[in-house]
Amino acid sequence: TFTPRVFSGIQPSGNLHLGNYLGALKRFVDTQNAGGFQTIYCMVDLHAITVWQDPEKLRHSTRELAAGFIAAGIDPEKSILINQSQVPEHAQLAWVFNCVARMGWMGRMTQWKDKAGKDAEAASLGLFAYPSLMAADILVYHATHVPVGEDQKQHLELTRDIAAKFNHDFGVDFFPMTEPVIEGAATRVMSLRDGTKKMSKSDPSDASRINLTDDADTISKKIRKAKTDFEPLPETLEGLSGRPDARNLVNIYAALADMTPEAVMSEYAGAQFGTFKPALADLAVARLAPITREMSRLMADPAEIDRILARGATQAREITVPILRKTYDIIGM
Ligand code: ADP
Ligand code: NA
Repeated sequence: TFTPRVFSGIQPSGNLHLGNYLGALKRFVDTQNAGGFQTIYCMVDLHAITVWQDPEKLRHSTRELAAGFIAAGIDPEKSILINQSQVPEHAQLAWVFNCVARMGWMGRMTQWKDKAGKDAEAASLGLFAYPSLMAADILVYHATHVPVGEDQKQHLELTRDIAAKFNHDFGVDFFPMTEPVIEGAATRVMSLRDGTKKMSKSDPSDASRINLTDDADTISKKIRKAKTDFEPLPETLEGLSGRPDARNLVNIYAALADMTPEAVMSEYAGAQFGTFKPALADLAVARLAPITREMSRLMADPAEIDRILARGATQAREITVPILRKTYDIIGM
């Protein structure tokens, strides 16, 4: 009885990189183009401010992320593209969920424990309530499916717990049990300096990641300098076990070429990195240059980005206003 609907969000916290592209943006575009789901993609600025953000940087990063979404292939005619704070029903439903969720549930979230660290007393209340807002992001659309990585699985389970408790407390069958769409390990992009660590926006080494704003020369240089061993590529994928840096470069090649890692191995069996790295660099530049170009074109016209997001907010609110209205109605408000 629920419309098949996918919701996903990314924090506008700067440094969009190849991992964000292959692990999130490209997958979002594939889902959009596959059809079968209404797709809603969101810049979650309300989540970003659970830790302090420089206001000018936040404004810039939000537009840059919007440009990244569009440049990667999110089509505002096919998907609803929004900035979270412009759709006030997210925060309004989150308050309701703050009154449904239990303190103990939040306290058990491993991401809370990791992020608050030893000084939980000094963390913001928003950081503690983060999963309740995430539940609202999803359920304010009655989203049926959410793509999640390993680190967000627990939050999605909590989303289902909140939906179930609301439905139970008020004797309704109003919020859906949102299903996770689990992403494969293959879409995990590792650091170019250390194949055992995720490529990350917060890594202090810029050489560890390929930023979506890097030019062709920078991309090539980073790939040529990527950490590797001195063995040639083996005949099969199994031969890469225990070689995380080599495995990472093969995975990146496969993801960029839309090939399986096995197919990459059979093409490059026995090749030295002196051959493989330039091929990977050429492929990365060919795939990323159009995205980088489109991003900078869009960033040159921030008013156009703002118009796209304003239109997205209007479309989103056609869904969220009635769902919030009905929620209040169920509660007696
Ligand atoms: P957030 O804090 O919102 O998760 P991130 O920048 O860490 O922001 O991640 C944004 C999206 O990009 C998420 O969907 C995440 O799973 C994906 N992502 C981040 N880093 C990687 C990576 N190294 N490999 C694959 N996907 C990644
Ligand atoms: Na993350």
